[in-house]
Amino acid sequence: MFDSGVGGLTVLHECLVAMPAEDFIYLGDSGRFPYGPRTPDEIREFAGQIASHLLALDVKLLVVACNSATAAALPWLQERLDAAIIGAVFPESEVAVQITRNRRVGVMATEATIASDSYRRALLDMDAGIDVFSQPCPQLAAMIQNGDVSSPEMIEAVKSYAAPLKTTRVDTVILGCTHYPLVTPMLQRIFGSSVTLVNPAREIAQLAAATLWRKGIQNRAGREGKYSFLCTGDVESFIKVGARFLQMPFENVSKVEISGLERMGVA
Ligand code: DGL
Repeated sequence: MFDSGVGGLTVLHECLVAMPAEDFIYLGDSGRFPYGPRTPDEIREFAGQIASHLLALDVKLLVVACNSATAAALPWLQERLDAAIIGAVFPESEVAVQITRNRRVGVMATEATIASDSYRRALLDMDAGIDVFSQPCPQLAAMIQNGDVSSPEMIEAVKSYAAPLKTTRVDTVILGCTHYPLVTPMLQRIFGSSVTLVNPAREIAQLAAATLWRKGIQNRAGREGKYSFLCTGDVESFIKVGARFLQMPFENVSKVEISGLERMGVA
């Protein structure tokens, strides 16, 4: 599994709960976080390097936990690599289509994800009559990552990103970035209890579990899976910041040099 940094640990958390018998290796590209302001070409290049690195470790399924990387690179990776690869966007869009009653769905995500139009396309593929309202939230992931989820600045930022969606009468909002589940209570309070917030992490974990099971490559039930981490930035701060996202014991972290990743990649 990989992500632009620590955010995807919300996805790993759900996977560890849903698939306790599986082994996981998580690569956080914390040295190049954030992906949100980057161009699709740049994100594709990074995703290609990381995917090649992880596939060389002989993984049986690759999960693109990052919404920005999924939006820019998932089909591109799937076309080029001989491996089972799943990602975000589709699983939570499917659930949002099932949940919405008034067929008005909001999406909060990074500027790269919104610009890609991936969510709108995924939602309309499943229900062509749905109204999709997209809200880019530049800065929000970085602010959450910096650790302060209850400062006045944070509350103001969350309110200002939620405000345009509130006027659209959406009854379902996709939290289309790995960081946003950490501000779920604040968002739920702002939107009100009648609006359902969809957390991609849970849906990606369900898809990963179903994929292993349908392919018949799941581990024996009852076995205790192991998990470990790679990061491209500072290991200490990866553990410190990441612990809030993972909410599980956090050890076995090693550093991967970006210069090493740059020698990998997808042709
Ligand atoms: N993992 C990224 C995402 O889900 C977090 C934000 C970023 O890197 O800008 O989009």
